[in-house]
Amino acid sequence: MPKIYIAADHGGYDLKEVLLSHLKGAEVVNLGTDSLESVDYPMYADKLADHLKADPTAVGILICGTGLGMSMAANRHLHIRAARCSTGLDAELARRHNNANVLCLGGRTLGTELAKHILDHFLQASFEGGRHQRRVNQFSDPAC
Ligand code: RB5
Repeated sequence: MPKIYIAADHGGYDLKEVLLSHLKGAEVVNLGTDSLESVDYPMYADKLADHLKADPTAVGILICGTGLGMSMAANRHLHIRAARCSTGLDAELARRHNNANVLCLGGRTLGTELAKHILDHFLQASFEGGRHQRRVNQFSDPAC
């Protein structure tokens, strides 16, 4: 299992705590937030992206109310491939085909059992390379 960095805003705090318990025994670094006090999610996405830059074999989990804001903020970083997933199959294919290195989850849109199921699929799958590598390489081409 890869090392895992995890961060959330106030909308994802409760789910982050659930997933931290679920991940007991794994190497996990909690980057906050650590309360329900309102915070701005881009700061946490940026913090996690900085850690993954220094530790490129690790993966990340970002949680906000919907997972949407976190994915948008995280994907501004060229070394991040963040996937907002709502099914186990999303998460599995995000790893197998897109080499996602960050899983984004919605703390207010997913039940806890579903979120654990999505996370397990994300962690169990691995990148298939081949034609998918060629496509993923094109992410770093300049966009129009
Ligand atoms: C915070 O209220 C909420 O906007 C945030 O958690 C997230 O859902 C944004 O995408």
